[in-house]
Parts: sequence; structure tokens; C-alpha cells
Amino acid sequence: LFSSDLISSEVQAALPKGHTIRPLSSEDYEKGFLDVLTVLTTVGDMSKAQFLERFYYLKAHNHEYFTLVIVSPEDRIIGAGTIFIERKFIHNNGLVGHIEDIAVDKNQQGKKLGLRIIQALKHIGAKTGCYKVILDCSEENVPFYEKCGFTRKEHEMVWYIPDD
Ligand code: ACO
Repeated sequence: LFSSDLISSEVQAALPKGHTIRPLSSEDYEKGFLDVLTVLTTVGDMSKAQFLERFYYLKAHNHEYFTLVIVSPEDRIIGAGTIFIERKFIHNNGLVGHIEDIAVDKNQQGKKLGLRIIQALKHIGAKTGCYKVILDCSEENVPFYEKCGFTRKEHEMVWYIPDD
């Protein structure tokens, strides 16, 4: 999806033996990428063609969208996360990184894989020139993000588009 030069070598070195952290690939549909995302919310019954449609859109915008995955020794996707780079006018045309869709396979949680995903995304945010990286999360996940070096700030608001 994007250049592997942006993957932190420190994070790769800190992973359990046989595990890899790398950019999302067009082959990851078969390796369980969408299954991992189901720990977050409904993914829907997505075909390979639909996956590739989104994949190639992100690839065409890969200075803005960075989705990475952790791969097990068995070549299955067991973790994933995204940073999206927003281009602002304020802060002298500043860049802000938005972390989204952090997911670790249910059977693999508690092994520091979530922490490694966040460290790798923070590295991309820093390397691409962001002045800050932000995210929204549930109250339950606040301690996790605090351990990843984030602090509380302000409130999330939402407006869902009505069906009609
Ligand atoms: N409450 C308190 N501490 C926590 C929690 C929690 N809910 N989750 C993790 N931690 C702590 C761990 O104990 C560990 O602490 P330690 O360093 O003292 O041992 C540290 O945070 C790092 O934990 P990891 O092992 O890296 O966490 P894990 O790999 O399980 O990943 C994650 C955490 C991503 C929240 C995972 O549990 C998951 O996928 N949950 C379901 C989906 C989800 O909620 N994703 C986040 C949505 S928010 C967003 O995407 C921006």
C-alpha cells in the first residue's frame, strides 16, 4: 500500500519471533485482514473486488492513508491499524495524523501487539511531518492509549446521517 521505508525497524525488532509488521497488501483479503477488523464493528460481506476497489483507492492516495498489519508466523493477519494524514491551513499548513481502526485478533490480545501497531503509526505520523497525532476511543480503551503515550483532550461528537 505504501513504502515499507516508513515501517519502524525498532517496532519490527520488538515483535514476538516470526511476526512481521508491514504495509497492507492486495493479498491480505485471503490472509484474514477483514476478519481482524470484526473485533471493531460490522465489516459486512465484502467481496475481493470490493476490497480491491478500496485498496487501490488508498494506494492512489498513499501519501495520506497508511494502513499496516501484523502478520503471524503462520502468515495470517492478526493486527491492523491506520493513520490518515489531514492537511490543514492552521499551524502554517500543518499536518495532523488521525489514528483509526486499531484491531488485534481476539486470541492475540494482551501480547503488546496493539502497542506495537500504535508505535508504528506514531512513527509514520512523525516521519510524514505531523505536528500531532489524535484519535477517538471508548472510555474502556483510555488506559490502553495512555500506555501508548496519549493524553485525554476534549470530547468526541457525532452526527449520523438519517436514513431518509
Ligand atoms: N484496559 C486497561 N489496560 C489495557 C487495556 C484495557 N482495555 N487494553 C490494553 N491495556 C494495556 C495492557 O495491559 C498493556 O499494559 P502493560 O504494558 O502494562 O502490560 C498495554 O495496555 C498494551 O496492551 P497490548 O497488549 O498492546 O493490547 P492489545 O494487543 O490487546 O491491543 C486493543 C489493545 C487494540 C484495544 C485490542 O484489545 C483490541 O483490538 N480491542 C478490540 C477493538 C478495539 O477496541 N480497538 C480500538 C478502537 S479505538 C481506535 O481504533 C482509534
